Amino acid sequence: MKTLILTGAPRNKGHTAELTASLAARLDGEVEILSLDHRKDITPCRDCRYCFTHKACNIQDSMQEIYQKLDEADRILFAAPVYFYNIPGSMKAVLDRLQVYWAAVVRGDRPSMDRKGGILLVGGAPESPRQFAGAIQTFQYMLEDLGVKCTGVVTMGGSDRAGLSDRPDVQKKLEELAEQLNQS
Ligand SMILES: Cc1cc2nc3c(=O)[nH]c(=O)nc-3n(C[C@H](O)[C@H](O)[C@H](O)COP(=O)(O)O)c2cc1C
Repeated sequence: MKTLILTGAPRNKGHTAELTASLAARLDGEVEILSLDHRKDITPCRDCRYCFTHKACNIQDSMQEIYQKLDEADRILFAAPVYFYNIPGSMKAVLDRLQVYWAAVVRGDRPSMDRKGGILLVGGAPESPRQFAGAIQTFQYMLEDLGVKCTGVVTMGGSDRAGLSDRPDVQKKLEELAEQLNQS
């Protein structure tokens, strides 16, 4: 089983990285963690609409390798900190290239939802109901376009003051998500 975790945190040793590593350590099979932060080698989507008629993106850059990884993965997860109630801009610029998967709606070849995935999010402010709503909506929509059922969402608010080691509740949720993802 292959799991691809796409992360959008600029801080390599931040809380998002810690949650991601903690989940990855619990997953069966091969796990790849791929950073989408500040990817100067990936052009933002130009809405050229090539993908409305072709099952591919016309822009030949490093995103082509990521499409291949996305197509080959059995499990796909997104991990990010929230920046102003959504995912960081540099990650969003890369993920807008998932338009090629959304365009299946126009092409009429939507995938079946036979893969599993999930979402990890961190926020500095104390946990609140609205804190992660924007980011969850964005990621869930993208997972759906990829034909991935979102098995679980793990959020950790309050990261300005406490980390994963202080949060047994978040550790438990990571364990539960890993268990779900490890089931066939
Ligand atoms: C530009 C920017 C915007 C942010 N916006 C929010 C926000 O809307 N809500 C929140 O809870 N935290 C916000 N934060 C705090 C980050 O989510 C927090 O620092 C988080 O721990 C960063 O993840 P990392 O530790 O993986 O780097 C923001 C931080 C930055 C730099």
